[in-house]
Amino acid sequence: MKEIIVAPSILSLDYANVSEQLQILKESKAEWLHFDVMDGHFVKNLTFGPDILKGFKKATKMFMDVHIMVEDPSFVAKLFIEAGADMLTFHLEAINGIEECIALCKWIRKQGVQAGVSVKPNTNIEELLPHLKEIDMILIMSVEPGFGGQSFMAHTLEKVQLLRKEIDRYGYDLKIEIDGGINDQTAPLAVQAGCDVLVAGSYIFKGDIEKNIDRLLLCQK
Ligand code: DX5
Ligand code: ZN
Repeated sequence: MKEIIVAPSILSLDYANVSEQLQILKESKAEWLHFDVMDGHFVKNLTFGPDILKGFKKATKMFMDVHIMVEDPSFVAKLFIEAGADMLTFHLEAINGIEECIALCKWIRKQGVQAGVSVKPNTNIEELLPHLKEIDMILIMSVEPGFGGQSFMAHTLEKVQLLRKEIDRYGYDLKIEIDGGINDQTAPLAVQAGCDVLVAGSYIFKGDIEKNIDRLLLCQK
């Protein structure tokens, strides 16, 4: 059985109760924490800078999965790598062509950090396929990036299926992450299509955090 990773998105954390909620996450079965970094330009929302990641890093040993939705990924990647990112995922749409994309992946790996590439719901992944060896994770957005709480776009699973086929065919060591609208109804579809990592914000933090994480993990059975 393939092991699924749940990555709670701290975008939906209750910021009036950060330490309490972080304690629950640390004791839960979630292994990763997902950080949505937004610059107000690439998406019409603004979140946090690297000092917030540094703070979380001091409080937990969880794997720091940083998703940057920004116009200047090279600049922002450096800041979050210095702050302790374990996985740094940037957007293909924010970069000037596939060569620059792969060059940034190589640079991220050189810093000892895993490199991820993300695509919006309507962006094709074909141009990434010849370069899968240079990438540690592909993040398929299943909502338009920018805000939590949106509905899952099922057509994005076609990209997951295509990627899963390529990965299995050539035996690549590459994870598929899905982000947006993941709950106990959509998670099984994502896992069935071939996802390894499930990001979830509003579903996990509305109600019992630990139970909701457990429910998502049940999808792999
Ligand atoms: C959206 C973010 C997501 C978001 C998911 O731009 O990338 O990580 O937090 O939130 P939910 O799970 O509520 O769709
Ligand atoms: Zn995200």
